[in-house]
Order: sequence, then structure tokens, then C-alpha cells
Amino acid sequence: MRPVLLINFKTYEQGTGKRALSIAKSAERIAKRKGVKIALSVQPTDLERVSKAVSLPVYAQHIDPITPGSHTGWILPDAVKEAGACGTLINHSEHNIELGKVAENVKICREHGLISVCCAATPAKAKKIAAFAPNYIAIEPPELIGGDVSVSKAKPGIISGTVKVVKSVNKKIAVLCGAGVNSQEDVSKALQLGAEGVLVASAIVKSGNPGKVILDLVSGF
Ligand code: G3P
Repeated sequence: MRPVLLINFKTYEQGTGKRALSIAKSAERIAKRKGVKIALSVQPTDLERVSKAVSLPVYAQHIDPITPGSHTGWILPDAVKEAGACGTLINHSEHNIELGKVAENVKICREHGLISVCCAATPAKAKKIAAFAPNYIAIEPPELIGGDVSVSKAKPGIISGTVKVVKSVNKKIAVLCGAGVNSQEDVSKALQLGAEGVLVASAIVKSGNPGKVILDLVSGF
């Protein structure tokens, strides 16, 4: 499987609305030019705008395990799909949900043909989530998220440890890692440790020159 760079736009100002589109287009240009796999995770309000404008896979940042009906303010899986999402993040560190809800969301994704990317804060959590058979598990130590020191440098054992426990449960699940990833060395180290891609936010979205950072990061593939 080719490694993936999954860019999480979070709710950063620079990753919202028209500005999200500009980052998405830079990412698309680089993906085409370099033949690398890049995916985008944007706010629900930007799913349609971004997925219509670029050919890259676009993910939601969260879904709620609900069916159409009376759920004001919740995020309907059917709706993110209709808006152009190919999948969704689940249980991001900034949007933690109970394990039971993670399981429900993974099941809903399977039923809707959506790709599930479940985040986990520890290898132990990742192992529990692996039992639900999502497509991806992303290990992200919360204390390193948004910082300058990457998980690859600060906690390499967490990446290899997660790969080991996840694969022991289900070999088909691809493991990603994230938190503080900001250079091609961080990316190549993550891949050496067994990750099949990286989840990156601040280093790209908050930089003044997202294209330059994306180019640097994919050089680590
Ligand atoms: O989802 C990715 C994210 O949590 C990592 O954030 O800013 O450390 O790249 P950041």
C-alpha cells in the first residue's frame, strides 16, 4: 500500500472555507506532480466545497452514530457521504467518544461505504479499537499534538508498539501516526517504524506556505 499523508484541517482559521480550498488545491497539485497519496479531512461545512473542487479523497472530521431523523446539530453519516466525503475520522483526540460509540461509528461507516479512520491515544486503546475492524487506526499521543516535537522523535516505541498490537488483532488495518509531525525525517521515521502514513495538521495548515511544507513531508515517503 502506498503511504498516505492525511491532512487534518481542524477548525484552524487558515483551514476554513475559501482558505481550506486553497490548501486543498496545493495538496492536489503536489499529489499529481509527485504521484503521492494525499487525503484531506475538513470541517463538515467545507466537505462539499472541497470535494467538488479537488480529486483527492476528502474525509469528515467526525460523524455521529445516528440515522436520519430528529437529531438537531448532530452529524449524519449519510449527509457527509452525500456532501462528498469518502470517509471520516472517528474519536479524534479533540473529539473523544466512548468506545461503544467508536464501534457503532465503524459499523455505520462499513454499511455506508465510508472509510473509517479511528484515532487512539495509546497502543492499549488502539488494540481495543482494532477489534472493531476499522480501515485505519491513527495513534496520536495527545500531549504531542500541536507541538514542535513529533511522535516519531519523542515516542517512536508508541508507533512500533501500536503497529504490533493492531496487526496482532487484524492485519488488514493500516496504522497511521500523528502529533507534531513537521519534517520529512519525521515522516520517514514513522514509516520505518511500521506506520503506513501520517496524520498532520498544524505544520501544514498553520504555516504561511502549506505547499512548501507538504512537498517537504511527502519527500519522506
Ligand atoms: O489529526 C492530526 C492532529 O491531531 C495532529 O496535529 O497539529 O500535531 O499535526 P498536529
